[in-house]
Amino acid sequence: MFKSYGIIGWPLGHTMSPTLHNWGFGELGVDASYAAWPVSSGDLSSFMGQVRARPISGLSVTIPHKQAVMEHLDTISDRAAQVGAVNTLYWDGDTLCGENTDVIGFIAPLRSMAPLPDSALVLGAGGAARAAIVGLKELGVRRIGVSNRTRTKATFLAEEFGVNCIDWEKRMETPWTLVCNTTPLGMSGELEHLSPWDADRFTPGMTAYDIVYNPLETRFLHDADNAHCKTISGLEMFLHQGLAQFHLWTGLDMDEAGARQILLKALNS
Ligand code: ATR
Repeated sequence: MFKSYGIIGWPLGHTMSPTLHNWGFGELGVDASYAAWPVSSGDLSSFMGQVRARPISGLSVTIPHKQAVMEHLDTISDRAAQVGAVNTLYWDGDTLCGENTDVIGFIAPLRSMAPLPDSALVLGAGGAARAAIVGLKELGVRRIGVSNRTRTKATFLAEEFGVNCIDWEKRMETPWTLVCNTTPLGMSGELEHLSPWDADRFTPGMTAYDIVYNPLETRFLHDADNAHCKTISGLEMFLHQGLAQFHLWTGLDMDEAGARQILLKALNS
């Protein structure tokens, strides 16, 4: 039976999710399609009625609905509850479930690191920072810090998750095994030339992880690479959050290397 999937958000700008999932359906012979549905906050309740009535077999959820959608679900995972946000809806029988695969996507490229990072600093204190902190805790990272331009937001997160709050002005003073950028610094556009980390403050053995994926090599990652540090691009998090969604919906695994190529092609087009 044909199945319908999609992404909701508002405004729903360009998204690579349809490219990824439709490629996966095609490759694995799944009779389904994935659409982009712009849904405003005022229309969320009626859309969620349609999700149950049609039914829609699975959804990706993006800004501004990641919190608001939770009240429309039958159950949410512990992981999504910790983050306080859901980015994936799927059915378990007649139960409409919420998961946060941003966390799964965030930790996927870190799982293959040997040894695993023993300390990590998260830069920023928005929704992506929350997913990163929950991921780092799930991974068992011993020492976690959070630093944000507006200190009160970092203090709030540090208290909620039991991690260290680091002054934004002092963020580069302590060595960290892993530094994760969750701010928009370095993103294509007017912030592209900026980095949250000075080029001469990378320390040996440090890994730089940017959740920004456009451009693929941000100023932060470029400077880290020049300093002979390991780098992880935001494309990895995007790819793996999508692979995890696809698995929840179909029980199947997309070919990771093929999916990465599809996304790289989409980014470069
Ligand atoms: P998301 O939910 O996607 O993580 P967000 O809630 O807008 O996005 O969070 C963006 C984060 O980047 C915030 O922590 C923000 O810091 P403030 O709390 O001070 O606003 C941070 N940020 C945005 N622009 C920044 C800049 N120019 N320099 C440093 N931090 C910045």
